Amino acid sequence: MIYDVIVVGGGISGLMAAIEAKTKTNKVAVITKGNLFRSNSALASGGINAVLDPKDKVGIDQHVKDTIKGTYGLGDKKAIFYMCNRANKVIKKLESYGVEFDKDEDEKIAQRSFGGGSIKRTCYVEDKTGSAIMQVLIKKAKSEGVTFLVNTFIMNLTKLNGRVSGVVALRRFDSSVVVYPAKSIVLAGGGYAGIYRGYSTNAGDYTGDMHAIALRAGLNLKDMEFVQFHPTGFKKTSYLVSEAARGEGGYLINSDGERFINELERRDIVSCAIAKQIAAGQEVFIDLRHLPLKQIETKLPSLQKAALMQAGVDVSKELLPIKPVAHYSMGGIDANLCKTGLKGLFVCGECSTTGVHGANRLGGNSLLEGVVFGELAGKEAVKFSQHKEFLPIDYNIVVQNVKLVDYIFQGETTKNFNAMRVNLGNTMFEYAGIYRDQKRLEKAYDYVRYLRGEASTLHCIDKDRRNNVELVSILELKNALEVSEAVVLSALKRKESRGAHSRVDYPVSNPKLKKSILTNEIRRSQYKIWYEDSNFMSKFKKTFTNVT
Ligand code: FUM
Repeated sequence: MIYDVIVVGGGISGLMAAIEAKTKTNKVAVITKGNLFRSNSALASGGINAVLDPKDKVGIDQHVKDTIKGTYGLGDKKAIFYMCNRANKVIKKLESYGVEFDKDEDEKIAQRSFGGGSIKRTCYVEDKTGSAIMQVLIKKAKSEGVTFLVNTFIMNLTKLNGRVSGVVALRRFDSSVVVYPAKSIVLAGGGYAGIYRGYSTNAGDYTGDMHAIALRAGLNLKDMEFVQFHPTGFKKTSYLVSEAARGEGGYLINSDGERFINELERRDIVSCAIAKQIAAGQEVFIDLRHLPLKQIETKLPSLQKAALMQAGVDVSKELLPIKPVAHYSMGGIDANLCKTGLKGLFVCGECSTTGVHGANRLGGNSLLEGVVFGELAGKEAVKFSQHKEFLPIDYNIVVQNVKLVDYIFQGETTKNFNAMRVNLGNTMFEYAGIYRDQKRLEKAYDYVRYLRGEASTLHCIDKDRRNNVELVSILELKNALEVSEAVVLSALKRKESRGAHSRVDYPVSNPKLKKSILTNEIRRSQYKIWYEDSNFMSKFKKTFTNVT
């Protein structure tokens, strides 16, 4: 089967893209490597930002302003303006698909406070907004006739004369390498905060696959140093305590029982404040004991249940220990709204960097970004695919991937890929985490380079090709390492503190430093990083001419 449009990734942005790209006559497929219901979108539980009245220009303008302020000077106004203005329309669209947002006493969509927002503008479904939207979108996509190719791991893109021509993928079922030609492709496969394994809200398979694929295809990554630490994860399991808990009035307190920060400050500020408390020997807790039980039961039921199951804590009576956890990657594939430097290739959601988040994302803006730019990417992808022929596939790439899979199956190894993933997570958290400095980042760099060498000689111990979990884990580890190196190098290069990037050796921000761009110099097998100049659009055009 061949498809006119292929969407890689089955989170909210991917599903929106697929629904928009589907027409009565074309063929659209969503490719996912795992379980559709376990995407990161389902973790954005607290809500989605929108000014609901399209005539409320002042309110929309304030949403734009709050978002720009949150970017610490690295935002793209055009993208932010587009997103905030589109917000009320996509909420209406989601409602028309069947999403039932919580309502207030006047039967209007209820909205709660979120960090960095000057008013209540976060629409929600209890504390499971992401998963509620996901379920509706999956149904909608299926009813529109979108095909789902699950358990399919994308290895590379193929291209010809500056245009994308298809994807090379691993069918997990039998470990065969397959090719899906397509007229246009949308990458929507999520972020890379999962490289901080053990210190991340993300599922273990969020390894930056899209970013690694993009680099190998000659595309640029942008602002990779900016990784958002969500202030509140369970201390033991890193499970997300939604910002909804603070939006509903929860406090942060230390072991002395003192509040030490405005809980609804931006996430970078709150996370740094918590990290300081922990470094000073304090334990930090979320305190909901003062909230009415009914409010906890109706607005935060998922948290209430998870706290009991995972931490044995009844949040209505007890304190829940927390720590900051890697949650979201602001950096990603360089995009002009959703277009990339490769014709026919579009990106949306967390894997892209449209410029709506800059150095720090506001809570509630990720679901919004996913829906708005997923919608746009789907529209652009279908437009591009119309009246186009399929291009020939570059079989050199296919052969390389077949050889890689055979190599991983054929050899013997005593190395443990799982231990390497855990060590990578520890290293990234310890040396490239919330607080950074030259020495620690250099340690991270050396260790990541060492692991890259080790990973290149990994083999499966289990040689059965059917649903081989080791094979995919090794491929994911390789991607995670490529992306980790990009994060560390970008963090080393940025000698200032800004948003989610806190350098203790360079505590002040340097307004001269703009967005960082990272290129894979394939011939010299190294990454090159530079800063966009202030004339953003002209540089944009320049960076977009070099993919052949
Ligand atoms: O805290 C949360 O519910 C997460 C929301 C988000 O990442 O936008």
